[in-house]
Amino acid sequence: MNLLSELKAIEGEFERDTKAVTQLSVDAVETMRIAYLGRKGKVTAALEKLRDCPKEEKPAAGKASNELKKKIEAWIQDNLKAAEGAELEASLSQTMLDISLPVGGTLPSGSLHPVTIMRRDLLKEFRRLGFTVYDGPEIDYDFYNFKSLNFPDDHPARDMQDTFYVNKEKQLLLRTHTSNIQVHCMLNEKPPLRIVAPGRVFRCDSDPTHTPMFHQIEAFVVDRGVTFAHMKGVIDTFMKGIFGSSMKTRLRPSFFPFTEPSAEMDLMCVHCSGKGCRLCKMTGWLEVGGCGMIHPNVFEAVEYDSELYSGFAFGFGIDRMAMLKYKIQDLRQLFEGNYPFLGQFPVQA
Ligand code: PHE
Repeated sequence: MNLLSELKAIEGEFERDTKAVTQLSVDAVETMRIAYLGRKGKVTAALEKLRDCPKEEKPAAGKASNELKKKIEAWIQDNLKAAEGAELEASLSQTMLDISLPVGGTLPSGSLHPVTIMRRDLLKEFRRLGFTVYDGPEIDYDFYNFKSLNFPDDHPARDMQDTFYVNKEKQLLLRTHTSNIQVHCMLNEKPPLRIVAPGRVFRCDSDPTHTPMFHQIEAFVVDRGVTFAHMKGVIDTFMKGIFGSSMKTRLRPSFFPFTEPSAEMDLMCVHCSGKGCRLCKMTGWLEVGGCGMIHPNVFEAVEYDSELYSGFAFGFGIDRMAMLKYKIQDLRQLFEGNYPFLGQFPVQA
């Protein structure tokens, strides 16, 4: 049999095969492609024979084989499109999908970060006590973070807060505490003030209880006749509001350049209720922050009359509070963005 009649026979077979396809599918089209045009396909084999075919038959056989190939390719292309369309149609009609249903309800709603929950709880309690929320910059000048807060240049008190300098020449830095907001606020507002200022702060520190970025909350009151006793009362009332009426607080003498006198603020251990345990190193108390009466030099820096006004300030770590409330072991877990950990906290709107 010469090649030309062989090609005719293949074409006949192809016609029959296409008619035999009853259920058009992507697979069925692919089977046809392999049978005729695949590496071992019928047309491919015929084309290989073209090389050894007698010279006088070659032009006609060449033309016929090309035409057959094109015809098969066209069939594949048309039917593949039709098959894909039919399959998509079938899968859509099988899926129970109603795009008019409202989103939510059936979807998991996520949860708030423990630090966010803690910050909201703290602010709520401060608002209840009549405080107003104030914000300040995270990148700030040395003046607001240190100098106006009575940290003279080169004073060793600066070593208490390991600072990230953004631009040493311009004296620009990442604030090391939220006390900078005291200065911004006092320069912009007149007493009486009852302010609470939460925010991110930064120190060059990293271990299980210190992260280079953490959160603080600062509260301060300025008015005529404000005393240390007012401060103690506010701190105690505040902590009872957060941890329950059996919570106790205590102050220990300390030093901060911007307060005089200054104190360290301790909470009764939330774990052992003051009996002594590993968390409180058997002391029954946990240190949470600093406080004191605003130093006259700070009032001078913001041009408040320190003879007329007095005030107190206290500041503590929001993350530390969240750790105590949720019994978190390692502070760094709060900032690793690990969903299995973060997903355990209460879901709130
Ligand atoms: N800013 C101090 C710190 O970060 C805490 C503090 C705030 C102390 C207010 C006294 C008054 O260490």
